[in-house]
Amino acid sequence: MKAAVLEEQGKGVVLRDDVKIEPPGPGQVRVRVCNCGICHSDLSVIDGAFPATLPVILGHEAAGVVEELGAGVDSLEVGDHVVLTPCPPCGVCYYCVRGDPTVCVRTTGLTSNTFVDGTTGLSRDGAMVYRGLNVAAFSENVVADANGAVKIPADVPLDVACVVGCAVQTGVGAVLNTARVEEGATVLVLGLGGIGLSVVQGARLAGAARIVVSDPVAERRECARALGATDFIDPASEDVVARAMEITAVGFDYAFEAAGRAALLDVGLAAIRNGGTLVAVGAPPPEELFTLMPAAFVITGKKILSTVLGGVNSLRDIPRYIALWRAGRLDLDALITSRRPFGEINEALDDLRSSRGIRTVLEIS
Ligand SMILES: NC(=O)c1ccc[n+]([C@@H]2O[C@H](COP(=O)([O-])OP(=O)(O)OC[C@H]3O[C@@H](n4cnc5c(N)ncnc54)[C@H](O)[C@@H]3O)[C@@H](O)[C@H]2O)c1
Ligand SMILES: [Zn+2]
Ligand SMILES: [Zn+2]
Repeated sequence: MKAAVLEEQGKGVVLRDDVKIEPPGPGQVRVRVCNCGICHSDLSVIDGAFPATLPVILGHEAAGVVEELGAGVDSLEVGDHVVLTPCPPCGVCYYCVRGDPTVCVRTTGLTSNTFVDGTTGLSRDGAMVYRGLNVAAFSENVVADANGAVKIPADVPLDVACVVGCAVQTGVGAVLNTARVEEGATVLVLGLGGIGLSVVQGARLAGAARIVVSDPVAERRECARALGATDFIDPASEDVVARAMEITAVGFDYAFEAAGRAALLDVGLAAIRNGGTLVAVGAPPPEELFTLMPAAFVITGKKILSTVLGGVNSLRDIPRYIALWRAGRLDLDALITSRRPFGEINEALDDLRSSRGIRTVLEIS
């Protein structure tokens, strides 16, 4: 099959048409990938900001059609339309039964880039190819755990639904599941890519009274306005913490770091009120650190949370987000500013590198 393979970091991906994929094993399905969005987490691996296991197929924000069932799969049928998820909940492990499905034992693949047993089902010239970020959807086909392919109604366009896979699950989930923002709250969002703009929409759904956004890109601030943001900061020319105090008098109830810069965690922590909550959503490169002086921190009562894919249960939340989209309460279309054929994947990566538009969605098959 055709797939975009990362063979060397810093050099983009290479389209290969001789990648082999094993048929689905017990409990797995094969999905024909129709569309895949591009997330900054893919770009961070491709460009070398994050470590990589090579060769690897990235792409983890995808939707497609089930084409083959492994033994024992009775939750899906051939022909079902699905959104793929990087965090398939097994439902029975220590983490799942305690309500933390995004750290399920099945999600170790986010870093190992393999299934739990160390295999990937992917190879080229007899050598293993890794399954990037637990999905590997820059590819005509994906084999996934049955719970990693979540059924959606057949009339939902797959090129729209795919952005639910990462951007929407992460951003909306960070608000509703991780932070549990309440009605009337004040919210600051730092960084307005697909993730941050989904945080904005989550805050609107939660009934936040004030949604203040910061991003140096004017076009992204304008997009945030259409999605429910109330106040706008250009961090290139304004002091974010000073503006936070001007707007709220005491600091924000919640701040979300969604740019992937460790320095913005300091900004977020300074911009929240005593007792407020900072949520680390972005994934800064490993050499960037965030330090705290406990003696000063402990008397603020501030809370710092992290979120993996918005703390979602994908089986519950993907259908929920699709239903909100259908009800006109969640805008998926606004996140998709460009569509490109699979052959233009390196140009699509460039779109994200230069913050051109929001999400570019690939038309894969
Ligand atoms: N926690 C998770 O599970 C999870 C899931 C998906 C993505 N991520 C991470 O979330 C981050 C965002 O991903 P994305 O796809 O939206 O990326 P993106 O590149 O589309 O957006 C990042 C935005 O941050 C803005 N930015 C840069 N410097 C800024 C500053 N000083 N202040 C405010 N904004 C600034 C950029 O202009 C850009 O609009 C990445 O680090 C990604 O790896 C985390
Ligand atoms: Zn992502
Ligand atoms: Zn589990």
